[in-house]
Amino acid sequence: MTCVLVTGGAGFIGANFLYFLRQEHPDWHLLNLDLLTYAGNLESLSGFQDDARYTFVRGDIADRALVEDLFTRYPITRVVHFAAESHVDRSILDPGVFVRTNVIGTHTLLEAARQAWKDPAAASSCRFLHVSTDEVYGSLGPGDPPVTETAPYAPRSPYAASKAGADFLARAYFHTYGLPVLVTNCTNNYGPYQFPEKLIPFCLCQALEGKPIPIYGQGTNVRDWLFVEDHCQALAQVLEQGRVGETYNIGGLSEMANLDVVRLLLDSLQELRPGLGDLTRLITLVPDRPGHDWRYALNIDKIQAQLGWRPRVTLAAGLKRTIAWYLSHQDWLDRVRSQVYRDFLQQQYGARVTGKGGPKP
Ligand code: NAD
Ligand code: DAU
Repeated sequence: MTCVLVTGGAGFIGANFLYFLRQEHPDWHLLNLDLLTYAGNLESLSGFQDDARYTFVRGDIADRALVEDLFTRYPITRVVHFAAESHVDRSILDPGVFVRTNVIGTHTLLEAARQAWKDPAAASSCRFLHVSTDEVYGSLGPGDPPVTETAPYAPRSPYAASKAGADFLARAYFHTYGLPVLVTNCTNNYGPYQFPEKLIPFCLCQALEGKPIPIYGQGTNVRDWLFVEDHCQALAQVLEQGRVGETYNIGGLSEMANLDVVRLLLDSLQELRPGLGDLTRLITLVPDRPGHDWRYALNIDKIQAQLGWRPRVTLAAGLKRTIAWYLSHQDWLDRVRSQVYRDFLQQQYGARVTGKGGPKP
C-alpha cells in the first residue's frame, strides 16, 4: 500500500487535497502531520473520522526527532508538503516564525526523506512534492508577460522570501543528493475551508455581518485566482506523472484586480442570499500593505503540454460554489473565528474593520 505523508493537511489546501487524494487513490494510507496552528483545523477533516486508511499526527515539521520517527514507523514513499505559515500580512507583523516553519521546517523534512530514501533503488519509487507559490517570482508590471518556470526569483515579502528559500533547498536536494523532488508554484487559491483572513473569505464574512470591507491601496493590485479543487487535481498529477527534479507552474488563467474580485464576490453573494442591501457601500479603501506586490501571473504552458492539466472552474462559478459552501458551514466559520482571530484583525486593521467605513472607491 502506498503511504503518503501530507504535511499541513489541517489547513485550507491540505484538507481539500486529502479529500481529493482519498477519492483518487482509495487504497493509499494518508498520514497527516500538522501542528494545528491558528490556521489548522481538525474540524475540516471530520470526514476522515472513521477512516482506517487515515492517520493524524499532531506535530511540528521542524521537530527532527518526530519527523525521522515517522519515516521509521511508516513506509512513506510520497511526501506532499503543504505545511507553512502562509499569510503575507502576518509575515510583515512577525517574520521569524515564517523562517522557522517555511525554511527550517522544509529542510527538516528534506533531510529526513534523504535519510529514509538513501538506497537509490528505493528512492527511485519515491517522490517529494514541495508545494510553493507564485510570489517567489516577485511583482509584475501591467505589460509583463506571465512568468515561466525559468524566471529568476525576486521575492519581496518575508513570506515570499521564506518560500523562495524553501524552494531553493528542495531543488538543491535534488541536484546534490538525487532526492526525487518536484516543486509546484501556484497562484491564489480560493474555495471551501479557507481561513477567513485571506481576501475572499474575509470579505465574505465582513459582508455577511454588514462590516467594512478593507481594500488595500486603490484596489488595483492584480492576482490570478484558482479554485482549490483545480489545484488539487494539478498536484495529484504532478505527484504521479511529473518529471522528478522539475518545477511546474499552476495557475487559473484568471487575472483580476482586487476591487473587481470583491465586486464579483458581492454580486454573487447578493444572488445567493438576497436582501442584504447594497453591499458595495461596505467597500473601504485602507492604507496599502507595505511592499504590496502589484501583480502576479503565471505561464502554465509546461503543465498543460506535459501533463494535460488546465484549470476547469471559472472564477464566477468557483466563487458561487465557495459562497454556497460558507453559507452552509456557518458553524465551521463561527468556530475558526476565535479570540485569536479577533486579536489578529485588531492588530492588522485596528478599528477600520469594526468602525465606520472610510471613503468609497
Ligand atoms: P494554511 O495557512 O491554510 O495552512 C497551513 C497548515 O500548516 C495549517 O494546517 C497549519 O496548522 C500547518 N502548519 C503551520 N506550521 C506548521 C508546522 N511548523 N508544522 C506542521 N504544520 C504546520 O495554508 P494554505 O493556504 O493551505 O497553503 C498551503 C501551502 O500552499 C503553503 O505551503 C502555501 O505556501 C502554499 N500556497 C498557498 C496558496 C494559497 O493561495 N493559499 C497559493 C500557492 C501556494
Ligand atoms: O499568490 C499566492 C499566494 O496567495 C499564496 O502563496 C499565499 O499563501 C496566499 O495567502 C495568497 O497571498 P496574497 O497576499 O495574494 O493573498 P491575500 O488573500 O492576503 O490578498 C489578496 C490580495 O488582496 C492582495 O493583493 C492583498 C489584497 N487584500 C487582502 C486582504 C486580506 C486587501 O486588499 N484587503 C485585505 O483585507
